[in-house]
Amino acid sequence: MLGLKLPTDPRWVNIVEKNIEEILTDHAFCEQKATSTAISLIVSFPEYTELVQEMVALVKEEISHFKMVHDKILERGWTLGRDRKDEYVIKLMKFFPKGGSRTMQLVHRLLYAALIEARSCERFRLLSEELEDKELATFYRNLMVSEANHYTMFLGFARKYGDKKEVDTKWQQLLEYEAEIMSDLGKNETVHG
Ligand SMILES: [Fe+2]
Ligand SMILES: [Fe+2]
Repeated sequence: MLGLKLPTDPRWVNIVEKNIEEILTDHAFCEQKATSTAISLIVSFPEYTELVQEMVALVKEEISHFKMVHDKILERGWTLGRDRKDEYVIKLMKFFPKGGSRTMQLVHRLLYAALIEARSCERFRLLSEELEDKELATFYRNLMVSEANHYTMFLGFARKYGDKKEVDTKWQQLLEYEAEIMSDLGKNETVHG
């Protein structure tokens, strides 16, 4: 359903399970970055009214996810650490060439966002199914549903504002590229690592 070309090796969950503090820390920053992305789309593309309206709603939702993760960290007696570098996102964002028309730049940013939501969703599903810690498994099940909706929304906007056929081709190419990046990952206790 998410279109991803390479599923995560379920053994990734065994790595995560050994260091819950690390995954929660990384995850908290993922939610914070999702919030920033939504704000940045509003700043860069103010004339896209429907997008702006949806991004306002998304800012609220993503910052509430951040708080949920932050609360989990505090409940377990920890303090939020520093941000972790997200090598996956850094590599992913090298795919589309810089520049082009405004619409093209918007489409590229929407496709990146859709893909990051899709992969996060897949990782959350794995956590919800495989974690021994049942409380945390339920937590990830609920978040998985939200991220799936975000994936659909971003892809929908890309198809709405761009040329549908062109967008679909770019989306397939981006999925192929992402699978290549992913083949080296799945070894760290981070959301995308
Ligand atoms: Fe989120
Ligand atoms: Fe999201």
